[in-house]
Amino acid sequence: MNFDKIIDRRGTNSTKWDMMGARSIGVPDEDGLAMWIADMDFEAPDFLQEATQGLIDKANYGYFIGEDGMKEQVAWWMQTRHGWAVDPATMFSTFGLGNGIGICLQALTQPEDEVIIFTPVYHEFTAKIRKSGRGLKESPLVIRDGVYHMDLEALEASMTGRESLLIFCSPHNPAGRIWTPDEMRALVEFCARHDLILLSDDIHHDLTYPGQTYTPLPVAAPEVAERLVMLTSASKTFNIAGSRLGTISIPGEELRNRFAAMLNALDVKPNLLGLVLTEAAYSESGAVWLDQLRPYLAENARIFLDGMAEIPGVTPMPMQSTYLTWMDFTNTGMEMDEVVRRVRQDARIAPSIGADFGTGGENFLRFNIGTPRARIVEAVDRLQQAFSDLQ
Ligand SMILES: Cc1ncc(COP(=O)(O)O)c(C=O)c1O
Repeated sequence: MNFDKIIDRRGTNSTKWDMMGARSIGVPDEDGLAMWIADMDFEAPDFLQEATQGLIDKANYGYFIGEDGMKEQVAWWMQTRHGWAVDPATMFSTFGLGNGIGICLQALTQPEDEVIIFTPVYHEFTAKIRKSGRGLKESPLVIRDGVYHMDLEALEASMTGRESLLIFCSPHNPAGRIWTPDEMRALVEFCARHDLILLSDDIHHDLTYPGQTYTPLPVAAPEVAERLVMLTSASKTFNIAGSRLGTISIPGEELRNRFAAMLNALDVKPNLLGLVLTEAAYSESGAVWLDQLRPYLAENARIFLDGMAEIPGVTPMPMQSTYLTWMDFTNTGMEMDEVVRRVRQDARIAPSIGADFGTGGENFLRFNIGTPRARIVEAVDRLQQAFSDLQ
């Protein structure tokens, strides 16, 4: 697979490339570099193209069956890649995981409830909690040895009894921290003590760097089963987010029935393309492709982090997985408005804004490095120039 191949996504209705001008004031469309929203710029692999072609060849897009086959492939993948024996009978498909989170909030919490998240974290958690009319409770992560840690003691001290659900991001977005089994066990104990539903969003599960191991929560702590909602998807791994398919696995019968009732009421069913692509992705060919992608992303991260570390005052957070790098600009001594102006207007790069990720993200920017290497080198060059006056 040639991950170096540049494909021009401008003019393809790509959110990342065609919304850059609108969302990121001052980044010119013509030569701006889109490093914000979380998808990758690589050409789709042959096994996905062939699966899509197989769908087209049938020349009919009517009602369909086959969801069970897809679920079997999900179970196969989780078992062979992650040692997680998940029962297909406990799985549901949603219209992507954003949709899945929204449905969980409606189905499993009450309007007066509070939902806990560890910030800074994927900004849509906050958005979904707010849009659902639930209370938001942030538990800021603390930085120790340069990486994020949960502060369960501080969270414990702040509990009011109104909290009913906790959203965990594993691996973590941003910065790709892989939580250790011990950390997960401590979290599960915490949730048991406070009778919290534990929603684990593992969408980035496959994008580990060589030598790093991601452990699914139910493998680290099987006792979590009755309070667990697992969110997984092939969408980040295989860059098929446009096909809008996520998998929600709920081992506990009581939670599963509540979720199923809501899904049924809303008539949420998988879509045909999502089904075909997910099944094709979770295959032997998918595994081979992924094991070529992982070192490529790791090397992109190395080049980008090393390059950014050369800018005085910029501290890149070490990465273990994902293509979502996280840069701390605190020690530049600059106001974030000025940092953002330089990145957008001088470097002509669209990053994600750290403040959107909640408390603790204010002095950070997130840069997506899921793109051909030449663009990473170009981005480093532009950013170093934009801050070349710093000593
Ligand atoms: C942690 C996390 N969850 C969910 C999503 C969105 O998933 P979907 O595209 O399936 O709605 C993202 C996208 O970046 C994410 O990072």
